[in-house]
Amino acid sequence: SFQKPDVLTSSSGIPIEDKLNSLTAGPHGPILLQDVVFTKDLAHFNRERIPERVMHAKGAGAFGFFEVTHDITKFCKAKVFEQVGKRTPVAVRFSTVVGESGSADTVRDPRGFAVKFYTEDGNWDLLGLSSPVFSVRDPIRLPSFTHSQKRNPQTHLMDPDMMWDFLSLRPESLHHVSFLFSDRGIPDGYRHMNGYAINTFKLVNADGKGIYCKFHLKTDQGIKNLPVEEAAELASSDPDYAIRDLYNAIADENYPSWSFYIQVMTFEEAEKFPFNPFDVTKVWPQGDYPLLPVGKLILNRNPVNYFAEVEQISFDPSNMPPGIEPSPDKVLQGRLFVYHDTQVYRLGPNYL
Ligand code: HEM
Repeated sequence: SFQKPDVLTSSSGIPIEDKLNSLTAGPHGPILLQDVVFTKDLAHFNRERIPERVMHAKGAGAFGFFEVTHDITKFCKAKVFEQVGKRTPVAVRFSTVVGESGSADTVRDPRGFAVKFYTEDGNWDLLGLSSPVFSVRDPIRLPSFTHSQKRNPQTHLMDPDMMWDFLSLRPESLHHVSFLFSDRGIPDGYRHMNGYAINTFKLVNADGKGIYCKFHLKTDQGIKNLPVEEAAELASSDPDYAIRDLYNAIADENYPSWSFYIQVMTFEEAEKFPFNPFDVTKVWPQGDYPLLPVGKLILNRNPVNYFAEVEQISFDPSNMPPGIEPSPDKVLQGRLFVYHDTQVYRLGPNYL
């Protein structure tokens, strides 16, 4: 508050008179060591990058709120669902999965849909994908699955043979691959797709009674996907298509929203279920386990500083406030370890 916003300063707040010329001995002479404006600026520049996410490196973020429309307190005591009409601020990051941070937005790839609810009992991070199923049912297979879609370690080229080797040798991936290679495989931006948290969680009510649960976010904009030719054209003419679409919609006050649903399954039903209900390569049939409406997610603010607010944001499925707990879902169990560990590396050892 002491500083004048129109004065350029060093990171210590000291006014800088000249940012266009280094300080030299004579007009052409060597640069002086006392030119700390130069040395500090260059040192900062040298360190301005952080490692990109090992998956989901390319993304877009926005902010808004979640509002409860239906009472689910009989299932869950979490503060975020406390009463109809209650609003909780949220941060959301959408992403592609495999591509590097400079890659094109319009590729055939699942999309990430990560939501952070800033609840009174701490942050709840709910991470979803645009597909209702996942490709591997044991998290130990995830590094090989991901590597098979990254660059070939010898040629440094993308290598479809690596990917199809993996997928064809892991038939469990068929459900996910069928979804990915269907007409739903290339979402038209991030506003026209659903988000599925895929993993099974446990909700606990005020009496301590638990029930298994899956979370779904359904787009209110309607599902839209890109035809292959248009997606290929956009990959070269507008590789940031999805970031631009989200940013412009919010800047134009055309706020995107999603309807939030749960499916629930009692412990007894889980025991009798015809297959493992915690298998992420399968869904719970909605005929037997209907979608129950819970609320709305609305995005109405763009980031002011992308790097600070979106690149450095961290979502971690182990962030669950009281009322939401893990289930025996193996992939969820693996993810409870992964995210904090990778974020300590990605964001630095002092991160949280
Ligand atoms: C074995 C399974 C999985 C592993 C090991 C894994 C690992 C990772 C890692 C390392 C990241 C980067 C995190 C960061 O640097 O902040 C990430 C991001 C992400 N993952 Fe997973 N993942 C797995 C399964 C899933 C599943 C099943 C979902 C969805 C239900 C999912 C959704 C996401 C999302 C949305 C992000 C991006 C978060 C962001 O926008 O910052 N992942 N995952």
